[in-house]
Amino acid sequence: MMGAGMSRKRLAIAATVLAMAAMPTLRSAQADDQDFALIERGRYVAVAADCVACHSLPGGKPYAGGSPLYTPFGTLVAPNITPDRETGIGNWTEEDLRRTLREGIGRGGKRLYPAMPYPAYTRMTDDDIRALWTYLRTREPVSNAVEANQLPFPFNIRLLMAGWNLLNFEPERFKPDPDKSPEWNRGAYLVQSLGHCGTCHTPKTMLGADDTDRALQGANLQGWYAPAITADPRQGIGDWTTDQLVAYLKTGANHQTLASGPMAEAIQNSTSKMTDADLKAIAAYLLDQKPPEAGAPARLAADDGRMRTGEAVYADTCMACHGGDGKGQTFLFPTLADSGVVQADDPATLIRLVLDGSRAVATDDRPTGPAMPPLGWRLDDAQVAAVVTYIRNSWSNAAPPVSADEVARMRKTLAQAH
Ligand code: HEC
Ligand code: HEC
Ligand code: HEC
Repeated sequence: MMGAGMSRKRLAIAATVLAMAAMPTLRSAQADDQDFALIERGRYVAVAADCVACHSLPGGKPYAGGSPLYTPFGTLVAPNITPDRETGIGNWTEEDLRRTLREGIGRGGKRLYPAMPYPAYTRMTDDDIRALWTYLRTREPVSNAVEANQLPFPFNIRLLMAGWNLLNFEPERFKPDPDKSPEWNRGAYLVQSLGHCGTCHTPKTMLGADDTDRALQGANLQGWYAPAITADPRQGIGDWTTDQLVAYLKTGANHQTLASGPMAEAIQNSTSKMTDADLKAIAAYLLDQKPPEAGAPARLAADDGRMRTGEAVYADTCMACHGGDGKGQTFLFPTLADSGVVQADDPATLIRLVLDGSRAVATDDRPTGPAMPPLGWRLDDAQVAAVVTYIRNSWSNAAPPVSADEVARMRKTLAQAH
């Protein structure tokens, strides 16, 4: 009896003390919770939009400014966007950031080059921009002055951008499709806006704007080819299931392929850190993008001279890993048969991988990426052209042949990038 009375009294005192201690701070604690939720949301928006990719040096301070970005206009460097007052965006307001994302206008009203993917970010919602702003304000300020514009004449004239904008860029809002599910619309928002997938996967017009009639149908990135990610069964990913696509975006590997180059980076920084629900939403949207039916090109005959040379090179240099049936080994060596990358009209990625090799993506789920060795030192241009032509026209594959000239050009591009 007595024990119970005591403890009730103690409890009562404890509760009063707690209440008194909590009272003055109750408001700010609530505000902190709200801020925390907003900051956390902003962190996720930054991940889904992959802001860190361009605005940081590999291994450098996040958001303090990036490494040179090779664009069709020339070389650009992404500036410092930490809250540093002198060299970052410490003096900016939320409205300034909104103008950058929505309208492509940077510091001092200058028109930005579309290497900053504002043609995609223009569709960001107000809520996402507010969260992103709140998050960026909490980053460590870093003093680092960056000269963004390293373009050669005449592209270094920002005035040109005013012309580009007038012709090609309209600030836009994301328009949900009321006939589609909320999941599909979330996927559309992620692909078209935050994920800016079209920046790499959509072919460009002569002026560098997205060719919207061919959205996501594959594009050349100066040394890489980002293949079609539409539901096209031959060049795209129409024969992937939702789970296979989610596995690729989450881990960089699936039944068919391993991600390399710029996509490995996008997976590492961005999609591998997104929620499963968001990755499924992306799949719901992409696997519903049906481009007009295009017939497969005629397959090269097996007794064509290029095919014969290619077969010999393949047996000698590739078969040990990719297999005589072109099926590779799941999660180790990509399948070359029935592959969108292998059959893409543009063979840039294939040529480059054979010349230069590549290490596949490493993610938390798959920490060691297997590597393809560089073979450019062993094979001459004609041999590389032949083996690439061979894998494009073997098993059930069919795609235009590749010339030694194309290989020579890629060797030059790679020599410049090294
Ligand atoms: C593909 C690379 C890339 C990505 C991704 C990217 N940026 Fe940029 N950003 C750039 C480049 C390049 C510039 C400079 C463009 C210019 O000077 O014309 C730039 C400019 C800016 C500026 C203007 C700064 C100034 O000093 O005028 C801001 C702000 C900015 N980016 C914020 C962001 C945010 C926030 C994200 C993510 C939502 C992001 N960027 C994603 C490449 C990128
Ligand atoms: C910085 C450029 C870049 C961005 C941004 C990018 N991709 Fe890619 N993507 C590539 C390249 C290059 C490849 C080819 C890589 C390879 O062959 O391993 C690729 C490959 C892929 C593939 C595999 C296709 C196949 O047939 O093997 C899928 C799926 C994909 N990307 C989806 C996406 C999605 C979804 C987004 C947006 C969330 C996105 N990508 C954003 C450059 C990019
Ligand atoms: C030692 C094993 C090995 C050898 C030999 C090898 N590869 Fe690879 N290959 C790989 C690995 C591992 C990858 C994945 C690398 C990545 O994604 O970055 C790959 C990727 C590829 C891809 C990209 C496929 C995709 O879905 O993205 C092609 C095409 C390719 N190899 C063709 C060849 C050809 C042609 C040869 C011979 C000239 C060859 N490989 C020799 C291991 C090998």
